[in-house]
Amino acid sequence: MKKIKLFLLSIVLASVQMNAQSLLPVYLDNSQPIELRVKDALSKMTLEEKVKLCTAQSKFSSHGVPRLGIPELWMSDGPHGVRMEILWDSWGHADWTNDSCTAFPALTCLAATWNPEMSHLYGKAIGEEARYRRKDVLLGPGVNIYRTPLNGRNFEYLGEDPYLSSKMVVPYIQGIQENGVAACVKHYALNNQEKWRGHINVEVSDRALYEIYLPAFKAAITEGKAWSIMGSYNKIRGTYACENDLTLNKILKGEWKFDGCVITDWGGAHNTKEAALNGLDIEMGTGTDGFTSNSKNAYDNYYLANPYLKLLKSGEIPVSNVDEKASRILRLIFRTAMNVNKPWGSLATEEHHTVDRTIAEQGIVLLKNTAMLLPIDATKYKTIAVIGENATRKLTEGGGSSELKPKREISPLQGLTEKFGANKIKYAMGYGSGAVSYDKVNKSPYDADKLRKEAVELASKSDIVIFFGGLNKNTQQDSEGDDRRSYGLPFGQNELIAELQKVNKNIVLVMLSGNAYEMPWLNQATTLVQGWYGGSEAGHALAAVLSGEVNPSGKLPFTFGAKLNDYGSHSFGSIAYPGDSINEIYKEDILVGYRWFETKKIKPLFPFGFGLSYTTFEYGKISTDKKTYSPDETMKISFTLKNTGKVDGAEVVQIYASQPKASVVRPVKELKAFKKVFLKAGDSQIIDLEIKVKDLAYYNDKTKNWTVDPGMFVLCNASSSADVKSKVSIQVK
Ligand code: BGC
Repeated sequence: MKKIKLFLLSIVLASVQMNAQSLLPVYLDNSQPIELRVKDALSKMTLEEKVKLCTAQSKFSSHGVPRLGIPELWMSDGPHGVRMEILWDSWGHADWTNDSCTAFPALTCLAATWNPEMSHLYGKAIGEEARYRRKDVLLGPGVNIYRTPLNGRNFEYLGEDPYLSSKMVVPYIQGIQENGVAACVKHYALNNQEKWRGHINVEVSDRALYEIYLPAFKAAITEGKAWSIMGSYNKIRGTYACENDLTLNKILKGEWKFDGCVITDWGGAHNTKEAALNGLDIEMGTGTDGFTSNSKNAYDNYYLANPYLKLLKSGEIPVSNVDEKASRILRLIFRTAMNVNKPWGSLATEEHHTVDRTIAEQGIVLLKNTAMLLPIDATKYKTIAVIGENATRKLTEGGGSSELKPKREISPLQGLTEKFGANKIKYAMGYGSGAVSYDKVNKSPYDADKLRKEAVELASKSDIVIFFGGLNKNTQQDSEGDDRRSYGLPFGQNELIAELQKVNKNIVLVMLSGNAYEMPWLNQATTLVQGWYGGSEAGHALAAVLSGEVNPSGKLPFTFGAKLNDYGSHSFGSIAYPGDSINEIYKEDILVGYRWFETKKIKPLFPFGFGLSYTTFEYGKISTDKKTYSPDETMKISFTLKNTGKVDGAEVVQIYASQPKASVVRPVKELKAFKKVFLKAGDSQIIDLEIKVKDLAYYNDKTKNWTVDPGMFVLCNASSSADVKSKVSIQVK
């Protein structure tokens, strides 16, 4: 009897549930296709509610539709970790005690892994942290091309090559979005410097735009399927990037069929009508002192708030315009905040720290090792001097919006002390900089002479010196809002290194930075490592590579030029960089990075794609499956790779293509494929790679089309842009 009662009860409950389900409006019914839900929600909204969706309600959130139970969107910086909570209405830290994150490596380090699997791991882990912290939109990754080594934000980007950055950005986005958190790709577009970023007008040819500056954004949208994108501060061809018909309406939403939201950079909107008609969807960060001193809510004065409503009501802007924006925003909300299938996420777990460490290890680049000081065999040395401020400085603090409050940050000194033992290691600061602050260069509080003398003295008494220098996250270093003032290393490091070189022959130089720099001491240096910013586990990763526990396998994602004027962007006077304060013309055109150095025959200090290993690799001769291809075919390339050294290791094999006789200027060579290959000592492998013939095209300014000139192309396998191993020519019909 009891069983029958229970059975009847369950039938009643099930039918109540079914009724509730069928009573649900379509927009709340997650079994319905998203487009139907968007349409249904839109049909239930007032004009005022639609407009509300388009602006911020606080520093990092935008409005929902409370009457319909549609939640707001919560956003957070940035590309390297989920930023600490910021106050509702100002840039101040909210000082929560539960928002400490994992700091992941800076994106230059990720790019230096040349390993898309690392990108996916990174995206997934940072997405999990964003989810746990209840963020719907993560403001990253950044994919602006490395045009000048002075750009304060290069560390947040993926280097100088459009192909490498495109391949690396896609899995990062997919990883984030698997968590029901939107990636917000930034800063679209042509935000290649921080100086005058708020107003500089960039003039660039269509060809450079399509070949160099847009591909990573395009890949992020069309392959990564990013749900949002951030418009940059600068102007493009006379119009602000957040109100730009060409880049937003025509290219992004037209050519690339982007169905997500364009979000301003914070304060990037300037005019209601321009923003409304030219593709902006959500306005964030326009200056406000919010609720404190205004009788009205200051956010109501945003360009896309009441002023927009007024133009819609007067008919100056058609209602279809807000319907389109609201649909995009609803789609974003359904994909994120209202996504019932999203996982829970997790924050600052050991698993995430392992992700950070693995990526940092794979990104570290060994640049020089002529005395075979590396890997360090600690049994050979009684005293190891660690010198340099970057051995102990927190490098996750500062830098602007990518600042982080990590649960832990292992410094290089700590990593090495754990590895080699406290009894062997002695530390001297050597040089010192001022405290981090957003838009101010603070003077160093240290006595520079004293620091230098102490360091030189320590070096003279030690068996080996490991120097940690580079840049840091201070203003005018690797930091947002301004550019570096010079290409040289700051804080007297060059002089210090020169003095250390005089007193000790065993010096390992480890540079932490997101940018290239001058190396006046290079000829005297035997050992150089580019260590980037490695995040929470930086010190462990560096110690693992220096000690040989991990064999370095990173390769440079940008060229290290000998001097500033060697770069294309610095070869045409100030109009090409930083501009005349109003306009800037990208005169080097498509010849950015190695494309410039090679075409102009300028020898860099270290070329794009370069990086050594503790083992050696032998490349076999490159071959293709055919000699002649038609434009719609795919070339199959193969060659053997052998690890000829004594330790296991990984090599990033690179394929470059060129067309020696073309109807337009073409770079000496361009990266078209790559693969990171792990090989045990003595092992060899046949490497198979594919390139579509259509990917050999250039952007034809005249016909506005991608064009492959028929004729001969040369493909080469290479271990860097400057180290070609073998070549094969093919014909395109
Ligand atoms: C930066 C963006 C950042 C935003 C919010 C802006 O100043 O350019 O990258 O996402 O602030 O912090």
